[in-house]
Amino acid sequence: MPQVFPKSMNPISRIMLLSLPVIAASTGVALAAFFRSDYTTGRNEIVDQPIPFSHLHHVSELGIDCRYCHTAVETSAHAGIPPTKTCMNCHQQVWNGADLLDPLRKSYAIDQPIAWTKVHNTPHYTYFNHSIHVSKGVGCVSCHERIDQMPLVKQSKTLLMEWCLDCHRNPEKNLRPKSEVFNLGWTPKDGTVDNDGEVFAAGGTQAEMGRHLKEKYHVRDDKTLTNCSICHR
Ligand code: HEC
Ligand code: HEC
Ligand code: HEC
Ligand code: HEC
Ligand code: HEC
Repeated sequence: MPQVFPKSMNPISRIMLLSLPVIAASTGVALAAFFRSDYTTGRNEIVDQPIPFSHLHHVSELGIDCRYCHTAVETSAHAGIPPTKTCMNCHQQVWNGADLLDPLRKSYAIDQPIAWTKVHNTPHYTYFNHSIHVSKGVGCVSCHERIDQMPLVKQSKTLLMEWCLDCHRNPEKNLRPKSEVFNLGWTPKDGTVDNDGEVFAAGGTQAEMGRHLKEKYHVRDDKTLTNCSICHR
């Protein structure tokens, strides 16, 4: 059988063979990066909504509490999206002629909910629950960042398993007094009063406060919180 490749090809093929592991490795890295990318996780994507609802305006400028609209966040797995009636409490009077609010008035008139598109999604085989996080002093800001400053909602975190686990291994980095769960701009400081009346005085650093709150709220150890069956039931 004649030689398929001339002898002069040898150095080239040797280089190619030698670089195979490098190519394989970098493909792996690229794939891993792909699965963590904003494109695949939906992070930072602005979703088209029937009405461009602004958290910046309603929360930061008008001072409306999260719980006025997301009424179930303290008591159930889902925070919930407010019904049209909640908006109409104000918009029957305020801005009641604006074109932007046409879909709102129509929804109210025909008694059909507005078709908001869900922005944050975890796969069906995982279990997530808002109330447990809120009741243990994990603030909205830890998972939704400064949504109170966003004119339009976007998902700020990957919501990948490694993101959940990263906090479940070290929750003290993200624990705050329960009184400040809905206060997105809060930072650890002396003089903060918790719901039970405890006034914080010592140090005012996250490390110190986190350790204290982990004990106070009976947050379990990392071994329990990284157990597969917690999130895959
Ligand atoms: C006046 C009512 C109102 C208030 C107050 C409000 N929200 Fe919302 N929120 C909405 C509406 C309506 C949507 C759905 C539309 C959208 O996603 O843009 C929404 C969507 C969201 C979403 C994304 C939901 C999804 O589809 O994944 C998050 C997260 C959220 N709000 C968090 C908060 C937090 C945290 C606060 C308090 C700092 C807050 N909201 C205060 C009305 C409100
Ligand atoms: C530990 C992380 C975490 C915290 C803390 C958190 N959220 Fe969420 N939130 C999520 C995840 C994950 C989803 C997507 C859940 C799903 O797939 O249904 C979500 C979804 C939502 C949604 C969409 C509707 C729903 O119920 O799924 C709203 C609204 C929302 N969060 C509001 C809030 C508010 C208000 C707070 C603070 C009181 C808060 N979240 C605190 C992680 C968190
Ligand atoms: C507590 C009262 C209140 C509630 C509840 C409320 N809004 Fe508003 N909204 C206002 C006020 C006040 C303005 C500003 C009017 C102005 O600028 O003249 C406003 C403005 C708006 C605007 C105009 C754009 C902007 O942000 O400036 C939109 C759109 C809007 N609201 C949608 C909604 C929707 C959808 C809901 C329900 C999820 C809702 N609002 C609930 C008080 C409210
Ligand atoms: C910022 C920190 C943080 C993030 C991010 C986070 N968690 Fe948690 N999670 C906690 C804390 C703190 C607890 C309360 C633990 C306790 O009570 O011992 C908890 C408890 C839970 C529980 C209840 C466990 C039980 O047996 O009652 C589930 C389920 C859960 N988390 C799922 C998730 C999932 C799924 C994600 C990712 C989508 C996630 N968590 C992201 C901090 C976090
Ligand atoms: C704190 C919550 C949490 C715990 C604990 C957890 N998972 Fe997950 N897991 C998730 C979430 C959230 C996803 C979905 C991530 C996504 O969207 O890709 C996931 C996805 C997965 C997937 C699908 C592939 C992937 O990686 O996305 C597998 C397989 C899996 N988990 C296995 C496990 C095993 C095995 C354990 C125990 C060693 C475990 N998980 C513990 C939250 C958790």
